[in-house]
Amino acid sequence: MKIGILGGTGPAGRGLGVRFASVGHEVILGSRDGERAEAVASEVRERASGRAETVTGGLNEQAAAAELVILATPWESALQTVHALREPLSGKVVISMVNALVKNGREMLPMYPPRGSVAEMVQAALPDSIVAASFHHLPAGMMEDLDSGLEADVLVCSDHKLATETTMAALQGIVGLRALDAGSLAQAAAIEAFTAVAITLNIRYKTHSTLKMAGL
Ligand SMILES: NC(=O)c1ccc[n+]([C@@H]2O[C@H](COP(=O)([O-])OP(=O)(O)OC[C@H]3O[C@@H](n4cnc5c(N)ncnc54)[C@H](OP(=O)(O)O)[C@@H]3O)[C@@H](O)[C@H]2O)c1
Repeated sequence: MKIGILGGTGPAGRGLGVRFASVGHEVILGSRDGERAEAVASEVRERASGRAETVTGGLNEQAAAAELVILATPWESALQTVHALREPLSGKVVISMVNALVKNGREMLPMYPPRGSVAEMVQAALPDSIVAASFHHLPAGMMEDLDSGLEADVLVCSDHKLATETTMAALQGIVGLRALDAGSLAQAAAIEAFTAVAITLNIRYKTHSTLKMAGL
């Protein structure tokens, strides 16, 4: 699959990009600056020592032309980013991994967008796209390091079966990751907000925890 990541030059996009490339997907790390993206992609390939050779960089517009597109910008710029790309994103599965959070001392707090979640705001901004929410709890540094021993469950939700199935299919075969169908896009509010709890735990226990659901 050809996967484009909007805002893919940040830690979250790079981490996902490496994991997808490790199972053979072609990945384009999108950016507002094509040269910056190419430089970041080159560093990513080098760090992965031959295990992420299908990672390239380009403009967000080029990433939006991929078959599957992931939104990995900060929450403040998420809607503006997708709105500018609504034509190339039309008819496609778009996955939001965006968390709207604010730091308050040694704690992270969730922000609640008017529609409940960033993902629902993205779906409203892209009525002709098929939006899923996923990847919110994955620690970026461990994702980019293929030797980190990362083990995590990846919650996926959407109002469209195709979006859930496409997201889960993209994750298939990635060592350490298990995709779980978490229901409709209405679940994105709780999924995004829980990231604040996960990061608060990381701050207090000085670690990078991951989500693992017992009993499934
Ligand atoms: N970091 C994690 O561990 C993690 C895990 C799960 C989910 N997330 C979520 O994933 C998203 C990205 O996280 P991150 O840590 O990678 O964030 P980041 O480094 O702050 O931002 C990612 C990229 O977004 C682009 N960007 C920044 N400001 C922008 C603006 N005003 N307009 C358009 N693009 C802009 C930048 O790319 P260019 O300058 O190259 O355009 C930047 O490299 C966040 O919403 C975060 O909550 C993060």
